[in-house]
Amino acid sequence: MKKSRILGAGHYVPERIVTNEELSKMMDTNNEWIVERTGIHERRWFTPGVDTLTNMSAKASRMALKRAKVDPQEIDFIVFATITSDYFVPGNGVLLQRELGLTSIGAIDIKNACSGFIYALSVADQFIKTGMYKKILVVGAEIQSSGLDKSNEGRSSAVIFADGAGAVVLGAVENDQPGIMSTHLHSEGTHAEELYCIGPSSSAEVRVSQELIDRGDFFLKMNGNAVFKHAIVRFLEVIQEALDYNGVTKEEVDLLVPHQANLRISQYIQQKMQLPDEKVFNNIMYLGNTTAGTIPIALSEAWEQGRIKENDLICLAAFGSGFTWASALLRW
Ligand code: UT7
Repeated sequence: MKKSRILGAGHYVPERIVTNEELSKMMDTNNEWIVERTGIHERRWFTPGVDTLTNMSAKASRMALKRAKVDPQEIDFIVFATITSDYFVPGNGVLLQRELGLTSIGAIDIKNACSGFIYALSVADQFIKTGMYKKILVVGAEIQSSGLDKSNEGRSSAVIFADGAGAVVLGAVENDQPGIMSTHLHSEGTHAEELYCIGPSSSAEVRVSQELIDRGDFFLKMNGNAVFKHAIVRFLEVIQEALDYNGVTKEEVDLLVPHQANLRISQYIQQKMQLPDEKVFNNIMYLGNTTAGTIPIALSEAWEQGRIKENDLICLAAFGSGFTWASALLRW
């Protein structure tokens, strides 16, 4: 059986930088609160009419393809993780397929929020292991800023979420080569309403009504406290699950790349696992929480900065809306 390996990673973030200072002019917040509670100093928001989820993810994909030294026409399939697609229908995978000029390959969307990229990686990994595809583009990208309530009511989410795109090229390699060792995926729908966005809702009389707009049901709503409490437990559990499954210790991990939910969450995991700073990658300080985008963006940046080298043992972990949570262990 074949194995899958990340051949290259790329990313793109919109040019517009939104500082905490700028947010404090839109809502009742301040730099001290945001930095202390989230670790975020600034984030990127898209510019309407310039950035789309499709063109951002195409830029990230082209960078990943170039670094992987893979011609776009070699790609057999696209797995696109997002909860903020350009259209309600179709999904963003097909829009990316068109933008990249890839002729009639299959494309699917994964709608698993912050865990979306690891879910997408796992789906792609199965296709490669069965021999169905040889090279798959796996994307995680979001435009969250257009769905944030920027009034005082939405301030706890509005200061966290941001826009950005990341992509990796996954390729088939022989089983004795470095590559993806395992993925573990979980969900617990009991908590769906702790972090969700109701509209457009197909079970309403009309998907977008004036009432829906008046209620603000098209905004992302989050019970931050509940999410935080579950996140710190599930992150640790699912990382340990990956380590135990592969019979490796936490000391053997070269780099932990956690979903960038909140710097305090990453720091809590780091402290519980007793990992030194150089073994945990964070970029939430200047990019915010880009949901499905955080992990591929982080992989691309970590590689650029020389913090990921060939054969390094990398652990990915995520938690978010659903609740869903997931981990992946791989050799780069
Ligand atoms: O990406 C995956 C899913 N998301 C997450 O993992 C996020 C997890 N949760 C969090 O990161 C944190 O819960 C938040 C950063 C969202 C909130 O931090 P917190 O420490 O849990 O604050 P809180 O919601 O308990 O609010 C504390 C106080 C409240 O005021 P009172 O009631 O104590 O007077 C809030 O109204 O802070 C207030 N507050 C703010 N103040 C200034 C909430 N948001 C803000 C704000 N600026 N932006």
